[in-house]
Amino acid sequence: MWAGRHVVLGVSGGIACYKSCILARRLVEAGARVDVVLTEAAAEFVRPLTFEGLTGRPVLGSLWQPGGALSHVRLGQEADIIIVAPATANLVARVVQGLADDVLTALLLARTVPLLLAPSMNDEMYAHPTTRSNLEELKKKGVALVGPETGPLAERASDRPGRMSEPETILAHAARLIRGGSLNGRRVVVTAGPTREPIDPVRVVSNRSSGKMGYRVAEAAWERGAEVVLISGPTALAPPVGVTLRTIDSTRELEAAVRAELPRADVLVMAAAPADYRPTSPSQSKRSRIDGALAIPMEPTEDILGSTRDQRKKGSVMVGFALETGDALAKGLSKLERKDLDLIVVNDALEPGAGFEKDTNRVALLGRDGSRRILPLQTKREVAEAILDIVEQSLG
Ligand code: CTP
Repeated sequence: MWAGRHVVLGVSGGIACYKSCILARRLVEAGARVDVVLTEAAAEFVRPLTFEGLTGRPVLGSLWQPGGALSHVRLGQEADIIIVAPATANLVARVVQGLADDVLTALLLARTVPLLLAPSMNDEMYAHPTTRSNLEELKKKGVALVGPETGPLAERASDRPGRMSEPETILAHAARLIRGGSLNGRRVVVTAGPTREPIDPVRVVSNRSSGKMGYRVAEAAWERGAEVVLISGPTALAPPVGVTLRTIDSTRELEAAVRAELPRADVLVMAAAPADYRPTSPSQSKRSRIDGALAIPMEPTEDILGSTRDQRKKGSVMVGFALETGDALAKGLSKLERKDLDLIVVNDALEPGAGFEKDTNRVALLGRDGSRRILPLQTKREVAEAILDIVEQSLG
């Protein structure tokens, strides 16, 4: 997403400046060219040299430094996006007034590209009616804001509003802003991870699903502008920025959550790996090992895609997954039909680099219309983008 993009990172003077270093670093790691523009106050918190080291590019701090006067106009018109983090109460006020009394505000006044501000300030400054109306004014003018969040502020241990969003959150919002919103107004429901079925109060039957594939789909769909609900079984993953997370445990709970979401869903991406069997009558007390060998009678769980078919919204797009061990394409095609899907993502668990727990996947995408795409080994994020490209075509 960031490879080859040009980002101007404006930094105004607040203690959150230390997080801007991490933001600059993350952007560079993701492949972006980053030009940092500092206010005089920001340079008191973090020296320009730090940002130069992180970005490998000269830092702009004054209109009067060589190239400064011309750069302030050019940068705000050539970049893909300007991110100002932190945006202090003073910076916000100066932008609202249209001041151009330093290189950052001059650049913002001359800008033609999208702007994202990450406000950060003391809680009383944030609560002040002038700051509130300044932020409202910026929103009305089409400036995007991320945060501030509630958390410990520099001078207070207790949680208060005013804290700058974390670099990962700012990055995700910036990506959503410049990606064009191809799924704007769409509601995308993604299921991810395994389910667990109790054997007794302390033991479960489950599977090796890590949830990685579904989480990457949810993240990519949100970046494309969708409203995203992620229904997740137990995983060790952090929820992607912006998505609404609903956690479930058993296959029955997953079915209930899918059933509740389907009538409003434009897209369902069923990446979860529900347990296919559950113990018929889980024990109410913990079984002891001294009872000897254990045979557990199991019954099949409900087929969620099949049993919730009548809940689907008209014109919605249904995506399923098939993880097979051998003869994957033929088995995938039969599931596409059996489960009445628009697209099925098929992979073979025996192939190197594919399947559960990995960060990569090698899949084939089989469409209801007979289309077949065999993708090379890719990251799960890249596979997510390929799936969503087809989903968008199907939505029309
Ligand atoms: N799926 C489902 N309900 C289940 C099991 C799976 O809706 N109880 C969904 C999965 O999320 C996936 C698709 O159906 O999108 C295929 O899953 P898979 O486990 O391969 O299918 P099964 O119906 O379990 O088929 P089989 O056990 O015969 O391979």
